[in-house]
Amino acid sequence: DRFYLGLETQTQKRRLTSTISAIKAQAGNNTVSKAKENKTFQVIQEERREQAERSVLISCPPKFNENKFLDYLSKHGTINKHFFYSSYGTYAVVEFSSEESISSLKESTNLPAVEHEAAVPFKSRLLSLKWPGNQMNNQPMPTFQEQSPPSIGDISQLLSEKDSIDEQLQCLTEALQLTEENINLRFLVCSLLGDIAGAYFPECIIRPFGSTVNGFGKLGCDVDMILDLDGIYATSQKKGSGLSLEYQVKRGASERAVTQSILSVIGKCVDQFGPGCVGVQNILQARCPLVRFSHQPSGFQCDLTANNRVAMKSSELLFIYGQLDPRVRHLVFSVRYWARVHSITSSIPGAWITNFSLTVLVVFFLQQRSPPILPTLDRLTELAGPSDKCVIEGNDCTIVSDLSKITLQKNTDTSAKLLQEFFEFYGNFPFNKASINIRKGKEQTKPETTALYIQNPFETTLNVSKNVNATQLERFVKLCQESAWLFQKSEILNRSSSQSAETVSPWGFSALLLPSVTSGAGMKSRRKRKLEPASSRIKTLLDSLKIKGGETVAKKGSA
Ligand code: GTP
Ligand code: MG
Repeated sequence: DRFYLGLETQTQKRRLTSTISAIKAQAGNNTVSKAKENKTFQVIQEERREQAERSVLISCPPKFNENKFLDYLSKHGTINKHFFYSSYGTYAVVEFSSEESISSLKESTNLPAVEHEAAVPFKSRLLSLKWPGNQMNNQPMPTFQEQSPPSIGDISQLLSEKDSIDEQLQCLTEALQLTEENINLRFLVCSLLGDIAGAYFPECIIRPFGSTVNGFGKLGCDVDMILDLDGIYATSQKKGSGLSLEYQVKRGASERAVTQSILSVIGKCVDQFGPGCVGVQNILQARCPLVRFSHQPSGFQCDLTANNRVAMKSSELLFIYGQLDPRVRHLVFSVRYWARVHSITSSIPGAWITNFSLTVLVVFFLQQRSPPILPTLDRLTELAGPSDKCVIEGNDCTIVSDLSKITLQKNTDTSAKLLQEFFEFYGNFPFNKASINIRKGKEQTKPETTALYIQNPFETTLNVSKNVNATQLERFVKLCQESAWLFQKSEILNRSSSQSAETVSPWGFSALLLPSVTSGAGMKSRRKRKLEPASSRIKTLLDSLKIKGGETVAKKGSA
């Protein structure tokens, strides 16, 4: 069994390289890391990856006994951590303390006897628990860890019960953010995929990037993956002055052509041999070629790319910004959520603003505060140490990894005030002539006539929002204006003191999530808004703030 034999040596090798690179990275970092907050991005990712390599994903029957199950698995070694979740069935994630346990577990695992079909004998770490039928009765069910985001109804309810907008924004962030278990599951899925790709490239690593690791991930978001073939974190080529050897390789017409051919082969392998992987689509003609598929046991939509080191660096950059001040995450989560609810962003690719662009807009806005809440990207480059040096395809992607080197200025604005000012700022931004540049932390003259120009932080000649058309930009600006305007209304701003916990109406941030007067209904309502006096505009808007049971903010406010 070629897959199986390859895997044994490959996982051992990977464990060694991961440990070494984590130690190296930490050694190059002057701060002694005690808590997770002090660890560098790279060290955090390596630790999570290493945990995932020691983990298995097990599909469980509807009824089983948790203790017996854990006792059974413990025969193979100490279990560090485990949790259960429910998604088209019950699943368990089990992390052992040593990778030897995985080999031992696999030795005692059987290939299924399939009756009318045939099985591909690929021995993965996705397993099924078989429980004898006569031991099924009255088993207490384990606690499940939630892997989906709360519904908008639940969010509204939750927010309405808070006492201030600041509390609402914090609560929203906490309710939507990825849980520790969800991140573990994401890394495990990457690791399982790595075993499949390892059949071709035994030393490859599949790493998550994007919102899985940038600190802005929301439960339910996709898993962006990079097939890392030559060590994203490798520092330099081994060069000596004497003799040396070089691999003979097959050549392709371009980097892009090579990436496409690798991804097409791995896509095929995932499709035909990957347990639980369904709906595999090769999207190789995209600007960034990718293989998209669903991983059924986890419920994740996965986008696998290759040769995409800059994207990993962008994820690290966003992660750093998110770590510097809690208000950054509160603002990003609320702006992203607000945008999604109002269909400013969409899960379908198109002329919409993306979550990535929105996040850069928030970063830029926070660089403009006085005093600034976030440093410029140039400043993060200046603070970098020698081990942080990173050049990708000629682009300097160096950023400081030791966050303790970054000194922040004292700005005491509340998250609520910042959100309000965010809407005012972009409601009035001169998008027609200025571009957004977080490297300089200043707006610049737009080099092109595209509707929205947000300079790519690392590939500075590119615009990350090139896809956005004038209509979508206008919708965003209008909605910013409307939200800024709503933010000034006392009915919206304050939780009415007469409200009891059972009869709360949407107020504060929840009120900004209610259907918009301008954006959805098109020209008709927009014209109407211009002609009507302000008082009736407010009335129309307040009337539109209907919630369950037909209560409105207007009624509440006047009660
Ligand atoms: P979600 O919408 O929650 O998935 O956010 P995300 O940040 O993961 O965004 P997405 O899945 O669309 O993209 C994944 C990553 O690819 C982002 O975090 C960026 O690093 C990068 N990326 C996405 N869109 C662009 C773009 O237009 N330009 C560049 N340079 N990078 C992008
Ligand atoms: Mg994503």
